[in-house]
Parts: sequence; C-alpha cells; structure tokens
Amino acid sequence: MQNIAVFTSGGDAPGMNACIRAVVRTAIYAGVNVFGIKRGYEGLIDGDIELMDSKSVGNIIQRGGTILKSARSKRFFEKKYRKKAFGNLMERGIEGVISIGGDGTFQGAHVFSQETNIPFIGLPGTIDNDLLGTDYTIGYDTALNTVVEAVDRIRDTADSHDRLFVIEVMGKDAGFIALRSGIGCGAEAVLVPETPTYVDHIIKKLEQGRRQNKSSGIVIVAEGDDSGGAYEIAKKITDKFQQYDTRVTVLGHVQRGGSPTAMDRVLASRLGNAAVTALLAGKRDVMLGIVNKNIEETPFDKATKHHDKLNTQLIDLVEVLSI
Ligand code: F6P
Repeated sequence: MQNIAVFTSGGDAPGMNACIRAVVRTAIYAGVNVFGIKRGYEGLIDGDIELMDSKSVGNIIQRGGTILKSARSKRFFEKKYRKKAFGNLMERGIEGVISIGGDGTFQGAHVFSQETNIPFIGLPGTIDNDLLGTDYTIGYDTALNTVVEAVDRIRDTADSHDRLFVIEVMGKDAGFIALRSGIGCGAEAVLVPETPTYVDHIIKKLEQGRRQNKSSGIVIVAEGDDSGGAYEIAKKITDKFQQYDTRVTVLGHVQRGGSPTAMDRVLASRLGNAAVTALLAGKRDVMLGIVNKNIEETPFDKATKHHDKLNTQLIDLVEVLSI
C-alpha cells in the first residue's frame, strides 16, 4: 500500500486529534502517503480530501474536537453517493482507509468495504464507551472527568442550599458515562437505560438519606434512561416527595469538548499506530480496541450489532456506597 486515508465521523470525542496524529505519523514513518478526509463520509462524497504531512498534525495532541471535522452523513446511506465516494478514492490511488468513530461509522465502512473491496480499519472514537471489542473508547475518560468535575461544582451549591440535583449526562442509549461518573462523584442514585428505573426506590433512598441527615443529593440520569430524562425524573420525584427543593442540570455538549486526558491520548496513540500496522498487514473490516491491555480486533458486523454490556458489579457498587 502506498496511499491510505483517515477520517473522523459521528459525534466528535476528545482524543480524536491524538489518534489522527498517530495515524499520520505512523504512516509517514512506514513510507506511506496519508490523506485526511474532511467531515467524515460527507467529505468522502465531496472529495474534500488532502494529503497530510508530519507537520499538519503538530501541536494537536492536546486539543479536543477533530482537525478533520466530523459529520453524520445521511447521503452515505445512498448507493449513488457511495459510488461517488469510491471514485474520489480511486482518483487519488487510496488503497485503504482508517475510520475513527462509533457504530454508525463502522456500519458505513462495512457496507462500503463490501461493495468496493477497499479495506477499512475502524477505531473506537466516542464518548459513549458503548462499543463491543474495547475496554474503553477514545474520549470516554475525558468525558467522565468533565462530568465528575461539573458535578463536584454542583454539589457545592447543592449542599449550600440543601437541594436535590437531578443531572442528565450523555451516552445515547447506554449508561456507561452515567454509571462511572455516578460512582466518581458519589451520587445518591444513578439511572441507566440498561436497568429498569423505579422512582419509588429512589425516593426511598432519598428519604433514608434525609433520616441520616443528608441535606443535599445528586441523582445522575443517563439521557437514554427508560423513565425519561432529568426533567421527567425530577418531576416524578417532586410529585411524590415535595420536601425536596429540586433543580435540574443537563450537562449536554460540554461533555464532548475539552483537552483529552492522558489516558485518552495514550489510548488514541496506541490505536492510531496499530491501525496503520493492521492495514499494511492486510487486515480489513475490523475495529481495533484494547482489551485487558492488549490490542484486539473485532469484525465490524459484530462491533456494530452488539453493544458492550454494563458491568453489573458497578451498579451494585452504587447501591452500597450511596447509603
Ligand atoms: O455519540 C455521542 C453523543 O454525544 C451521544 O452521547 C449523544 O446522544 C449524541 O452524540 C448527540 O449527538 P449530536 O451532537 O449530533 O446532537
């Protein structure tokens, strides 16, 4: 292979830049040309593709977001646009592609790769940590730290005013961000989509806390929780338990930005490097992840069909530590 390309797609995640840097520098080190595709599949369709050099990825390891920009492409679902994308790769002699993103990104890569025979290697870049085949996704650790820092601040004011805060965090249909941030900030309750939510149980816990002179409280709600978002939960709690002066905070996109943590930078650098090595070794149609400290491959169709499972021991831990 003499020419490869890299792009970021879907929701951006801190550490994507560190990953792009690792891909570009590993390719150049191996004597391979590397192109950057802008705006994910959108740029692939539009031919927004530039040759990168070592300098073009200088001074980005510490930056959040993605210098290649990102998008969620509706057009790529249509065959005519995928044909156009293929033409753009052929024009530049690009023989292999590294895609950094989530399951939507890998679904696109899988279909495209089957149709065109262009090898794709996927790297898990999403704050949601919901992908099968890696212990952690790039961006998850940074997002967790952002949530914990924000909740620590909220706890100060919650305590001053004896208030209950219901805080909504991201994660799409998964509760990974909610669960670990909930443990990290000592939440009274954590509500995740993977388990049914019983508001009565939460109220019981809050009442128990009151009896033990807990004057304030933090409830973390994953945006995809079955019983609704933070506003619905806050209403259900106050309907039954009027003693609480309750406030709601939806953390939103603050969780997606910011300088990546050291953990995310190292993860991104290892995976970016491994992706180039894998592509040059003839691997295709797989996502690379780190499982028990080692780099592992998961076929795209498996990585996209199944989500990773939440660790039930951590759910139990919240229950025990929030008494
Ligand atoms: O997948 C990352 C994520 O931030 C999810 O947690 C969230 O549901 C979604 O993206 C938000 O997407 P958008 O930025 O397109 O609104």
